[in-house]
Amino acid sequence: MSAWRFSRYFLGSAPSVTEARRFITSLLRDWSAVDAAELIVSELATNAIRHTASGRFGSRFLVSVQAHPDHLWLGVLDEGGQSSPLVFRHSPDSEGGRGLLLVSSLSIDWGVWGDEHGRTVWATLSTGSQTASC
Ligand SMILES: Nc1ncnc2c1ncn2[C@@H]1O[C@H](COP(=O)(O)OP(=O)(O)OP(=O)(O)O)[C@@H](O)[C@H]1O
Ligand SMILES: [Mg+2]
Repeated sequence: MSAWRFSRYFLGSAPSVTEARRFITSLLRDWSAVDAAELIVSELATNAIRHTASGRFGSRFLVSVQAHPDHLWLGVLDEGGQSSPLVFRHSPDSEGGRGLLLVSSLSIDWGVWGDEHGRTVWATLSTGSQTASC
Protein backbone atom coordinates (compact mmCIF):
# COMPACT_ATOMS: atom_id res chain seq x y z
CA MET A 1 0.00 0.00 0.00
CA SER A 2 1.36 3.41 -0.88
CA ALA A 3 0.12 6.70 0.52
CA TRP A 4 -1.32 9.21 -1.94
CA ARG A 5 -2.29 12.86 -1.95
CA PHE A 6 -4.54 15.03 -4.10
CA SER A 7 -5.21 18.76 -3.92
CA ARG A 8 -7.50 21.05 -5.87
CA TYR A 9 -8.25 24.76 -5.81
CA PHE A 10 -11.86 26.02 -5.81
CA LEU A 11 -13.25 29.49 -6.34
CA GLY A 12 -14.35 31.04 -3.05
CA SER A 13 -18.06 31.11 -3.82
CA ALA A 14 -21.00 29.06 -2.53
CA PRO A 15 -21.30 26.62 -5.47
CA SER A 16 -17.74 25.48 -4.75
CA VAL A 17 -18.89 23.77 -1.56
CA THR A 18 -20.85 21.31 -3.69
CA GLU A 19 -17.90 20.94 -6.04
CA ALA A 20 -15.57 20.24 -3.12
CA ARG A 21 -17.98 17.58 -1.85
CA ARG A 22 -17.98 15.96 -5.30
CA PHE A 23 -14.18 16.06 -5.34
CA ILE A 24 -14.17 14.12 -2.07
CA THR A 25 -16.81 11.64 -3.27
CA SER A 26 -14.91 10.89 -6.44
CA LEU A 27 -11.61 10.40 -4.60
CA LEU A 28 -12.99 8.40 -1.70
CA ARG A 29 -16.03 6.59 -3.14
CA ASP A 30 -14.69 3.18 -2.04
CA TRP A 31 -13.77 4.35 1.44
CA SER A 32 -15.92 3.74 4.50
CA ALA A 33 -15.07 7.24 5.71
CA VAL A 34 -16.41 8.95 2.58
CA ASP A 35 -19.54 10.39 4.25
CA ALA A 36 -17.63 11.81 7.21
CA ALA A 37 -14.98 13.19 4.86
CA GLU A 38 -17.64 14.90 2.75
CA LEU A 39 -19.23 16.52 5.81
CA ILE A 40 -15.90 17.74 7.15
CA VAL A 41 -14.78 19.24 3.84
CA SER A 42 -18.19 20.82 3.40
CA GLU A 43 -17.94 22.57 6.79
CA LEU A 44 -14.33 23.65 6.27
CA ALA A 45 -14.99 24.94 2.74
CA THR A 46 -18.05 26.84 3.95
CA ASN A 47 -15.95 28.42 6.69
CA ALA A 48 -13.22 29.39 4.24
CA ILE A 49 -15.80 31.22 2.12
CA ARG A 50 -17.73 32.75 5.03
CA HIS A 51 -14.98 33.69 7.46
CA THR A 52 -11.83 34.35 5.39
CA ALA A 53 -10.51 36.34 2.43
CA SER A 54 -11.15 33.25 0.28
CA GLY A 55 -14.76 34.45 0.09
CA ARG A 56 -13.81 37.65 -1.75
CA PHE A 57 -14.49 37.90 -5.46
CA GLY A 58 -11.80 36.06 -7.42
CA SER A 59 -10.30 34.39 -4.34
CA ARG A 60 -9.98 30.69 -3.73
CA PHE A 61 -9.35 27.88 -1.28
CA LEU A 62 -7.41 24.63 -1.59
CA VAL A 63 -8.79 21.23 -0.57
CA SER A 64 -6.20 18.50 0.08
CA VAL A 65 -6.65 14.81 0.83
CA GLN A 66 -3.90 12.46 1.97
CA ALA A 67 -4.51 8.73 2.33
CA HIS A 68 -2.34 6.86 4.82
CA PRO A 69 -2.44 3.19 5.88
CA ASP A 70 -4.77 3.79 8.81
CA HIS A 71 -6.10 7.32 8.41
CA LEU A 72 -7.15 10.05 6.03
CA TRP A 73 -5.89 13.60 6.37
CA LEU A 74 -8.16 16.38 5.06
CA GLY A 75 -7.17 20.02 4.86
CA VAL A 76 -8.65 23.27 3.59
CA LEU A 77 -6.21 26.13 3.00
CA ASP A 78 -7.83 29.57 2.99
CA GLU A 79 -6.57 33.09 2.28
CA GLY A 80 -6.65 34.20 5.91
CA GLY A 81 -8.45 36.82 7.94
CA GLN A 82 -8.76 38.35 11.38
CA SER A 83 -10.83 35.64 13.09
CA SER A 84 -9.46 32.28 14.22
CA PRO A 85 -11.17 28.92 13.90
CA LEU A 86 -12.58 28.12 17.33
CA VAL A 87 -15.16 25.69 18.65
CA PHE A 88 -17.81 27.82 20.34
CA ARG A 89 -19.38 26.91 23.62
CA HIS A 90 -23.01 27.65 22.94
CA SER A 91 -26.47 26.86 24.11
CA PRO A 92 -28.54 24.38 22.08
CA ASP A 93 -30.74 27.14 20.65
CA SER A 94 -27.94 29.50 19.63
CA GLU A 95 -27.27 29.99 15.95
CA GLY A 96 -23.95 29.06 14.33
CA GLY A 97 -20.87 27.54 15.86
CA ARG A 98 -21.84 24.02 14.88
CA GLY A 99 -19.45 23.45 11.97
CA LEU A 100 -16.21 22.96 13.87
CA LEU A 101 -18.07 21.10 16.62
CA LEU A 102 -19.18 18.63 13.94
CA VAL A 103 -15.64 18.43 12.55
CA SER A 104 -14.22 17.70 16.01
CA SER A 105 -16.86 15.04 16.70
CA LEU A 106 -16.28 13.21 13.39
CA SER A 107 -12.49 13.30 13.42
CA ILE A 108 -9.74 11.68 15.46
CA ASP A 109 -8.05 15.03 15.66
CA TRP A 110 -8.24 18.43 14.02
CA GLY A 111 -6.30 21.65 14.14
CA VAL A 112 -5.15 24.82 12.47
CA TRP A 113 -1.86 25.90 10.91
CA GLY A 114 -1.04 29.40 9.74
CA ASP A 115 -2.00 32.97 10.53
CA GLU A 116 -4.05 35.89 9.26
CA HIS A 117 -2.40 35.57 5.84
CA GLY A 118 -3.70 32.05 5.32
CA ARG A 119 -4.73 29.09 7.45
CA THR A 120 -5.05 25.38 6.90
CA VAL A 121 -7.81 23.84 8.96
CA TRP A 122 -7.23 20.09 8.98
CA ALA A 123 -8.85 16.94 10.35
CA THR A 124 -7.91 13.27 10.43
CA LEU A 125 -10.28 10.33 10.06
CA SER A 126 -9.67 6.74 11.05
CA THR A 127 -9.95 4.27 8.17
CA GLY A 128 -9.26 1.06 10.08
CA SER A 129 -7.81 -1.49 7.68
CA GLN A 130 -9.04 0.31 4.54
CA THR A 131 -6.64 -0.10 1.61
CA ALA A 132 -5.42 3.26 0.34
CA SER A 133 -6.07 2.54 -3.33
CA CYS A 134 -7.15 5.30 -5.66
N1 LIG B 1 -11.05 29.11 8.31
C1 LIG B 1 -11.35 29.99 9.29
N2 LIG B 1 -10.59 31.11 9.44
C2 LIG B 1 -10.88 32.01 10.41
N3 LIG B 1 -11.87 31.86 11.32
C3 LIG B 1 -12.65 30.77 11.22
C4 LIG B 1 -12.43 29.78 10.21
N4 LIG B 1 -13.33 28.79 10.39
C5 LIG B 1 -14.08 29.15 11.44
N5 LIG B 1 -13.67 30.33 11.95
C6 LIG B 1 -14.20 31.00 13.15
O1 LIG B 1 -14.62 29.99 14.05
C7 LIG B 1 -16.01 30.19 14.36
C8 LIG B 1 -16.66 28.85 14.53
O2 LIG B 1 -16.79 28.18 13.28
P1 LIG B 1 -17.98 27.16 13.07
O3 LIG B 1 -17.86 26.58 11.72
O4 LIG B 1 -18.01 26.21 14.22
O5 LIG B 1 -19.29 28.05 13.20
P2 LIG B 1 -19.93 29.07 12.16
O6 LIG B 1 -19.25 28.94 10.83
O7 LIG B 1 -19.91 30.42 12.81
O8 LIG B 1 -21.44 28.57 12.05
P3 LIG B 1 -21.99 27.22 11.40
O9 LIG B 1 -20.81 26.44 10.87
O10 LIG B 1 -22.69 26.51 12.51
O11 LIG B 1 -22.92 27.67 10.32
C9 LIG B 1 -16.56 31.03 13.22
O12 LIG B 1 -17.68 31.78 13.63
C10 LIG B 1 -15.38 31.90 12.86
O13 LIG B 1 -15.30 33.03 13.70
MG1 LIG C 1 -19.05 27.06 9.94
